[in-house]
Amino acid sequence: KKVAILISGGGSNMVSLAKSMTGDHPGRPCLVLSNVPGAGGLQKAEDMGIATEVVDHRDFKGDREAFETKLISVIDAYEPDAIAMAGFMRILTPTFIGHYAGKMLNIHPSLLPKYKGLHTHQHAIDAGDAEAGCSVHEVTAELDGGPILGQARVPILPEDTADDLAARVLVKEHLLYPAVLVRFLRGETEMLSL
Ligand code: GRF
Repeated sequence: KKVAILISGGGSNMVSLAKSMTGDHPGRPCLVLSNVPGAGGLQKAEDMGIATEVVDHRDFKGDREAFETKLISVIDAYEPDAIAMAGFMRILTPTFIGHYAGKMLNIHPSLLPKYKGLHTHQHAIDAGDAEAGCSVHEVTAELDGGPILGQARVPILPEDTADDLAARVLVKEHLLYPAVLVRFLRGETEMLSL
């Protein structure tokens, strides 16, 4: 099965996903697409021999529909069976989400349903939570709201800054996302907890 991976930045999740798709894994990466020209993940993808594309949202002057229409045409040329959003920092409208309904995953750096949106680690620290983590979910029209397919937890330590916590969670993201993707492609949907 062909997997398109959407990024906006360094693409560390993309790298761990791409590296996991070998041997008898049902998936293979067919495309890495970024909305940001020159995103660090693009070079990493090229170094791994994966096709890359850029669709710069700034070329569409706030016209979300036009941006998404272009995204869809570029992505569909690669005929993906699944879309993995990995640090893709654009909010997508129901048009895009509906086009890939049931085929699109995202990783979010919180224990959903807590802390949707941005600055998740600071929110967890400010709330005095003992734990934080990351979630992989199916993408639906509700931002960070679709069915949760997997979660990984880490302790929050007393002296943690948001950056300390982000680094601890990122290590888990790189384990969780590949573990969820392979199950998703095999049609296994019971939730994974790491
Ligand atoms: C990660 O914290 C991930 O949770 C969020 O984007 C951040 C950067 O991810 N979605 P990556 O290194 O670009 O994969």
